[in-house]
Amino acid sequence: MTPDTAALVRQSWAELLPKRKQVCTRFYACLFERHPELRRLFKGDMERQANLFLTMINTAVSALDNPEPVVPLLRTVGARHADYGVEDADYDKFADALMQTFAEALGDTFTPEVSAAWQQVYAQLAETMQAGATERRH
Ligand code: HEM
Repeated sequence: MTPDTAALVRQSWAELLPKRKQVCTRFYACLFERHPELRRLFKGDMERQANLFLTMINTAVSALDNPEPVVPLLRTVGARHADYGVEDADYDKFADALMQTFAEALGDTFTPEVSAAWQQVYAQLAETMQAGATERRH
């Protein structure tokens, strides 16, 4: 992760935070529109769920310059996702819906560079969570 990537992600996250409620609602709507088969995995209250998801992304964004301390937490959350029935392939579906939602919310400021930076950050998050899930399955 270059300092530029981290800066682009931090800057766009700061723009998204004031709109977090709409962003979360739109994200899950977009996810279930595109991938209705995922709906059955979510059994709890969606507003609470959206908050937990957002808090986790916020933690990861805050730790971009020094991610080591949050790795164990991400692996644990990933292991829990294996228990929820989430499969590795589902992470790409999440990425699609997340990028689509960010593009809508940010408009012109969601440049190809910002998009690429988020994809890199998301890929690292997903990889760490998937590693935790793989450990749980074995
Ligand atoms: C970067 C990716 C992701 C992050 C940061 C994330 C974060 C979280 C967090 C913080 C929770 C709260 C419960 C807990 O900590 O165990 C949660 C729950 C959950 N997540 Fe994720 N998640 C991600 C990807 C996914 C994917 C790809 C799926 C697949 C559909 C998914 C499905 C779920 C489900 C089903 C729950 C439980 C909901 C319930 O209790 O009803 N998540 N997620």
